[in-house]
Amino acid sequence: MNYITKNKEAWEEAFERATAWGNDIEKRLAKEEYPFIEKVLVDELVNYDFTDKKIAQFCCNNGRELLSIMNFGADSGVGFDIAENMVDFANQTAQNLGINCSFVATNILEIDQKYYNSFDYIFITIGALTWFEDLLPFFRKVSQCLKEGGRLIINECHPVTNMLGANGEEQYDQETPNILIYSYFKDDAWIENDGMGYMNGENYESKTFYSYSHTFTEIINAICQNGMSINKLMEFDYDISEMFSNLNNRGIPLSYILISQKV
Ligand SMILES: C[S@@+](CC[C@H](N)C(=O)[O-])C[C@H]1O[C@@H](n2cnc3c(N)ncnc32)[C@H](O)[C@@H]1O
Repeated sequence: MNYITKNKEAWEEAFERATAWGNDIEKRLAKEEYPFIEKVLVDELVNYDFTDKKIAQFCCNNGRELLSIMNFGADSGVGFDIAENMVDFANQTAQNLGINCSFVATNILEIDQKYYNSFDYIFITIGALTWFEDLLPFFRKVSQCLKEGGRLIINECHPVTNMLGANGEEQYDQETPNILIYSYFKDDAWIENDGMGYMNGENYESKTFYSYSHTFTEIINAICQNGMSINKLMEFDYDISEMFSNLNNRGIPLSYILISQKV
């Protein structure tokens, strides 16, 4: 069994246990304009015209972010995620809300050719890239699925966050949470069995997750080597992962937005 199949099982287990995760989507989408989206991303997206545009999200989880982004006025959306139970939930939510979005259960690296040259915008947000050992085939899929001139919009955790320790880890010291513990160039997998706490607030002995650190060099080269150019990069000193908010506004790069275009 490869690491992606194992991650599928672990993510489906996490979603099964997170019974309340997603209960607020319909309520918040009714009340707020763009819930679940970082304010800096909203500030960026207001500059684009989404009229008649087809948008997609890779690693869309339960669909909350894509359903929110649909409020910018896109014609239709497609979310891709490997966890079948999340995709079922997202399709049901889109139907309940009457939003023109569909969700597809697939490994990103195996997205069907019928989606090639389909999208004006592809979104990748918080905690998506880390699930891929090699970013070259990942961004190849992005490029294949974008129309010519289509844009890739990433709002992710900064590569430097992979160097920081987190509560509960052996070398983590609460007195000095800003100390860099891990190599920026770590190239073996993070192997974890303590669940996906951000979805259900609990630590539990879970199926095994495999994730990977990526340097900015790897990210940028994998984008550029797949026929896309980089238009804009913004780095922020605040956390979007809920793991490092104690380090906000201390001069440490914790998140970023990158805009790229298929040439
Ligand atoms: C941290 S979540 C993304 C969270 C999302 N940004 C949000 O806030 O709702 C990562 C997602 O990637 C999905 N995933 C992991 N590996 C994948 C793969 N190979 N193909 C497709 N989806 C994958 C997981 O099922 C999970 O829903």
